[in-house]
Amino acid sequence: VIVTVTLNPALDLTYSVDELIRHATHRVRTVTERPGGKGLNVGRVLCAAGEPVLATGLLGGAIGARVAEAVGTAGVSGDFVRIGGETRRTVSVLDSGDATGFWEPGPLVTVGEWTRFVERYDTLLGRATVVVLSGSLPPGLPVDAYATLIQLARDRRVPTVLDTSGEPLRHGISAGPDIVKPNAAELSTLSKDTAATGTDEGIDAERSVGPEEIAAALRALAIGCRTVVVSDGRRGLLALSETEGWQAVPPDVIEGNPIGAGDACVAALARGLRDGTAWPAILADAVALSAAAVAVPVAGGFDREIYERLRSRVVVTSLGNRSAQGVQDVQLDR
Ligand SMILES: Nc1ncnc2c1ncn2[C@@H]1O[C@H](COP(=O)(O)OP(=O)(O)OP(=O)(O)O)[C@@H](O)[C@H]1O
Ligand SMILES: [Mg+2]
Repeated sequence: VIVTVTLNPALDLTYSVDELIRHATHRVRTVTERPGGKGLNVGRVLCAAGEPVLATGLLGGAIGARVAEAVGTAGVSGDFVRIGGETRRTVSVLDSGDATGFWEPGPLVTVGEWTRFVERYDTLLGRATVVVLSGSLPPGLPVDAYATLIQLARDRRVPTVLDTSGEPLRHGISAGPDIVKPNAAELSTLSKDTAATGTDEGIDAERSVGPEEIAAALRALAIGCRTVVVSDGRRGLLALSETEGWQAVPPDVIEGNPIGAGDACVAALARGLRDGTAWPAILADAVALSAAAVAVPVAGGFDREIYERLRSRVVVTSLGNRSAQGVQDVQLDR
């Protein structure tokens, strides 16, 4: 099975209101509840695509119990480690088609709980074809938690996909994951000193891939990551391996909710890695699946018709053999 790790899962609440006004009281029109956290989104996408998947991570309290139940209802098998703290909520307020987010930090995880998780994870690795490590770390976990999990997977020859940000991303990369999937903003934080704040707040989420991001991707490769797949919103994907590079562009821009598109992208990368699919085909699949995820209003799903329609039409271009190239030679086709 593909094992997805979500160390900081959430119960995701979506409120819709007529108009969000600062410092005002709002009548909430509808409330929806679903499992949140990037790894759980990846698990739901894989499950919807018919892939065998097992979701693991840390869950606690009554909210954790609700998340476990909702994961099961979504058809995803779960094997979570229980913690004493209460699983967090993420609240999205929807008005006029746009979302405003409130993300709780998550419970404080003890050293003993982390040790128990690492033991459970090591057991699950015996059944894993690929491990997906996604999202933020809850308080209390060591900043190199993902690096530890990547190392354990490598010891057992299980390939890994990492999707996180800030310091956990930096440490994770140094453990040599098979694929790392940052977006442009996450990649740009690698070249800045996030150690000072420990967060990636205040970074420009709208930024696109440019020379600074390509330089950061090449550094990630130099540190030990096998392939960097940079997602660039509606512009698609840029993939760089030690020796080659590709750009994959969606044939159509899809209108909808781009939150969770990255998780669908990771889902496609994970199954391609499991199957040993050639890179251009993996990237075409990832672009089609993530565009199809934009078409559905909530994270963790995709529109099957759009996926089938786009899959054969994604344009993947080689950026050439990289081995002889410098950073400035990586030319993006825009
Ligand atoms: N409007 C769009 N139309 C078509 N494809 C899109 C669109 N937005 C995103 N995509 C596809 O989804 C992929 C992932 O999107 P993006 O780069 O926004 O990920 P992300 O920032 O990690 O998102 P998140 O973490 O919220 O899931 C892109 O590389 C692209 O292929
Ligand atoms: Mg993302």
